[in-house]
Amino acid sequence: MQNELVIVLDFGGQYNQLIARRVRECGVYCEVRSYKTPLDEIRKLSPKGIIFTGGPNSVYDENSPHIGKDIFDMGIPILGICYGAQLMAYTLGGKVETCKVSEYGKTETSYDKTSVIFGKVNELPETAVSWMSHTDYVAQVPEGFRITAHTKDCPAAAFENADRKLYAVQFHPEVNHTQHGIAMLDSFVKNVCGCIGDWNMKDYAKTAVEQIRARVGGGKVLLALSGGVDSSVACALLSKAVGDQLTCVFVDHGFMRKNEGDEVEAAFKDRNVNFIRVDASERFISRLEGVSEPEAKRKIIGEEFIRVFEEESKKIGAVDFLVQGTIYPDVIESGTGDAAVIKSHHNVGGLPDHVDFKEIIEPLRLLFKDEVRKLGSELGLPDYLVWRQPFPGPGLAIRIIGAITREKLEILRDADLIFREEIAAAGLERSINQYFAVLTDMRSVGVMGDGRTYDYTLALRGVTTTDFMTADFARIPYDVLEKASIRIVNEVGNINRVCYDITSKPPATIEWE
Ligand code: XMP
Repeated sequence: MQNELVIVLDFGGQYNQLIARRVRECGVYCEVRSYKTPLDEIRKLSPKGIIFTGGPNSVYDENSPHIGKDIFDMGIPILGICYGAQLMAYTLGGKVETCKVSEYGKTETSYDKTSVIFGKVNELPETAVSWMSHTDYVAQVPEGFRITAHTKDCPAAAFENADRKLYAVQFHPEVNHTQHGIAMLDSFVKNVCGCIGDWNMKDYAKTAVEQIRARVGGGKVLLALSGGVDSSVACALLSKAVGDQLTCVFVDHGFMRKNEGDEVEAAFKDRNVNFIRVDASERFISRLEGVSEPEAKRKIIGEEFIRVFEEESKKIGAVDFLVQGTIYPDVIESGTGDAAVIKSHHNVGGLPDHVDFKEIIEPLRLLFKDEVRKLGSELGLPDYLVWRQPFPGPGLAIRIIGAITREKLEILRDADLIFREEIAAAGLERSINQYFAVLTDMRSVGVMGDGRTYDYTLALRGVTTTDFMTADFARIPYDVLEKASIRIVNEVGNINRVCYDITSKPPATIEWE
């Protein structure tokens, strides 16, 4: 029997997959499709509901994505978010205008609880915070619609035509900063679309294994294993699907954390997979010495990675498929057609034009970090692998700000180890989702013993997040930071100042480069 399905129609927003994953969190299978998908195709999928995403455009821009009126007459419930809300209003005869005051960020919002979307969320008060990000607004709702939420500067923060099952919100319910936003989405899919919630991660694992088997056939598969959560879960999935047709190659690029290469080898040596460790550190470091531009570092590492794999695969002979553990935030932040590029994650943006494999498989491409972890547990991976904190593909290369040198690499490695040890000693490993040290390119004056020092400033970073798309800086107790700071300055040479990064994402990103 087919699972219930909700479709997200993508109008170029940053959060399109985040919406899909929120719907999956409600136990309803959800996929993202282009806004250009023909209506016939949508009809064939028989979705229980459709969600229009936000997008960077104004409905009045010449090249902005539009949609015909017919979709609103299909009898399928629709929820428009941000640009999607404006588009619904505009297409059905309402008025969209430029805001007198743009709204960005947390915004006090008043809800009309007679709306089914808000009314069925018991814990939602009549006034709560929503996350706004818009410069246009709906000045007049279309005929037959009523306004169901407003803010100080936005008279139509939500509106609906319940008879036609058409709903719209100017704010972003999918973002954590919107209080009870996920419950609102749950209310839309359950109370408006009539879903019961018949989907879970076990189904996803089963379907993914079947799809991989069908695609790979009898082919040989090579997997880029970094030992991080993503590639470890990809490994478990692939080994379940194709068994010993799979070979895992772990490239030690020399920018791993202290002792990490040996730890990865130890973790996988005894598992039932073909495992090869390639020590390519000299090759990577010599290409990166002196390079300071962040995107250049990523591109070089991405390129060199693929070359090493090509060489390894030639040794194995006739490899058909390369597997990468790319997850959704890597894809979105590297830019997908209509969304803006934030940074090119090495396993996406850095691919050279010529890749010597028949095909690349990215089985986790649609999942977020916490979904990947759930999948890993579903596949029987041990907790210590599933709960490892994420580590970026380019490793410490993008945590050395400015030109890379061997000396800086050693300094950072030692400092990062101390920070990790202190976080572990304080029992904070699970509550802080990612924590690490960054070696800044700044030197400052200090005093040690009786002498003047002129050394590097080290930054410590810790974040709490569920999806890594948005993140808060972690409130690490001062005494833990103090201990780490004292040890770092005393035990690691060339650092005389330690700072803690107190920016969230956005506006910063988690990594510094
Ligand atoms: P940012 O810095 O973009 O990071 O907020 C979001 C998450 O992605 C990780 N990250 C990467 N992972 N290759 C990866 O596999 C990369 O090039 C890369 N850059 C960032 C980052 O550590 C964080 O968990």
